Amino acid sequence: MTSMATKKSQLSFSLFSSLLLILLATLSSGVQAIKGHGLSSLREATVQDIHLAFKQNRLTSRRLVEFYLKQISRLNPVLKGVLEVNPDVLFQADKADHERYTHAPISLSPLHGIPILLKDNIATKDKLNTTAGSYALLRSVVPRDSGVATKLRKAGAIILGKASLREWSGFRSYNAPGGWSGRGGQGQSPYTMGDPCGSSSGSAISVAANMAAVSVGTETDGSILCPSSRNLVVGIKTTVGLTSRAGVIPISPRQDSVGPICRTVSDAVYVLDVIAGTDYNDNATIETSRYIPKGGYAQFLKADGLRGKRLGIVRDVFYDFGNDTILNRTVEQHLDTLRLRGAVLVDNLKIANLAEYYSSSSEITALLAEFKIALNEYLSELVSSPIRSLADAIAFNKKNPKLERIDDYGQDIFIQAQATNGIGKKEKAALANLARLTRDGFLELMKKKKLDALVTPDSDVSTILAVGGFPGIIVPAGFHSEGTPFGICFGGVKGSEPKLIEIAYGFEQATKIRKPPKIEVQGTL
Ligand SMILES: *[C@@H]1O[C@H](CO)[C@@H](O)[C@H](O)[C@H]1NC(C)=O
Ligand SMILES: *[C@@H]1O[C@H](CO)[C@@H](O)[C@H](O)[C@H]1NC(C)=O
Ligand SMILES: *[C@@H]1O[C@H](CO)[C@@H](O)[C@H](O)[C@H]1NC(C)=O
Ligand SMILES: *[C@@H]1O[C@H](CO)[C@@H](O)[C@H](O)[C@H]1NC(C)=O
Repeated sequence: MTSMATKKSQLSFSLFSSLLLILLATLSSGVQAIKGHGLSSLREATVQDIHLAFKQNRLTSRRLVEFYLKQISRLNPVLKGVLEVNPDVLFQADKADHERYTHAPISLSPLHGIPILLKDNIATKDKLNTTAGSYALLRSVVPRDSGVATKLRKAGAIILGKASLREWSGFRSYNAPGGWSGRGGQGQSPYTMGDPCGSSSGSAISVAANMAAVSVGTETDGSILCPSSRNLVVGIKTTVGLTSRAGVIPISPRQDSVGPICRTVSDAVYVLDVIAGTDYNDNATIETSRYIPKGGYAQFLKADGLRGKRLGIVRDVFYDFGNDTILNRTVEQHLDTLRLRGAVLVDNLKIANLAEYYSSSSEITALLAEFKIALNEYLSELVSSPIRSLADAIAFNKKNPKLERIDDYGQDIFIQAQATNGIGKKEKAALANLARLTRDGFLELMKKKKLDALVTPDSDVSTILAVGGFPGIIVPAGFHSEGTPFGICFGGVKGSEPKLIEIAYGFEQATKIRKPPKIEVQGTL
């Protein structure tokens, strides 16, 4: 999750020009799609570009993997988006190439031969560690691949490695910065060299800086939407249960969701098509699979997807830009674009109890108790592990204060969670309150105004979507006046991914805001 304490996160700007790095602020780019000469032309390659190049024998998975490995070795020492590279990645690439040459049926899958990075809380049963960024889980042995990794392997995707994250998905300490973990250090947004936002920071940093083709993150409240916004990439926070959480180091089964973080809406949708669906190790996916349309999600990538869509605008809070007139103007232009492309904007709406959504302690009360139960269960299922409970994790941190920077960041959330004792009276009241806020707030507005989506700049809407289990898609939208990227988020009711994809793709095709960061490392180009 993102910092619950500070909705509008702090920015820290530090240009490491004295280190090896120059951040060129100008964002114009001369990047071409794959032209078949030189590895640099693979920057910004989409899944479709890659498949076309495979088909025309201009590219192999091995060469693609070598490109990302080179990007990682150049950029990751500073950006710290990648925590581990899979030692078997070239072997997997050669296998994919062989399958393609022999016309194996698997080679028709949309992610076949595509290198993907997984957030480090998503288990893989291979040489990679699964640690949520913490030394406490280093060398733990998972019983099996996560549900998501299983589906990705079946589709022939290449597991490139693990992405860094805000440690324990942001649920160890209120004070730890976005993008920081004990094992991964401080991740940086390649646009600002500042806070990448958490907790799926590494997934967003890595695709933004072309260190992977596509990636997967997880969200409990804002953890896909916020880093996607801050790193100018696309994130899909799915309806809870649409994607399996089995084998994901949890916060809350009620709010956790797994989703793609990619450079384009279509790339994200190709990933979604592979990872969505039933997994008998996460029974929530059985009920939720009824939302998955026949033929999958890619059919909703329609350039005129905005036509006829009813989009709600709630200006309170979400459109308060302070003195940032550039941000204000950019957002107003986007609203005009949505209108021009045929959407019906229903403006100046109100969400009942909006302030209470954000001031209420109900969410944290529920999450603290749910986390202790879910984490202890995850840890109990490991084949072997240095820790077997939340209490062990707290003790580990106390014993290793330097590794985990306990003196700087503490572990106050861990300690609060450890003090809970199941879902008692207090937690039940909190859950009932969240259900009431959702029913009378977001759901009531969506129904009464017959909205297809709520449109909000940046990721501040995340709590409303989180506590309701609702989906949201964030698409690159521009920059704050001081240079921080932001996205526009389209949020909807459960199972509304098809509509949200139409809207998000329509907006992306109309605006095409995304540009790669201009990072160059001296001496290695
Ligand atoms: C997993 O962690 C162990 C212990 O630090 C390390 O030796 C190993 O290289 C790690 N695996 C990968 C793929 O980095
Ligand atoms: C899922 O549901 C089935 C049938 O109701 C049950 O047998 C199984 O134990 C459940 N799995 C989990 C992981 O809860
Ligand atoms: C906007 O206000 C902030 C303080 O709220 C100030 O730091 C900043 O310089 C102002 N920017 C402009 C463009 O006036
Ligand atoms: C933002 O733009 C709108 C529409 O152009 C304008 O009415 C409003 O005053 C602006 N707000 C700020 C804070 O600049």
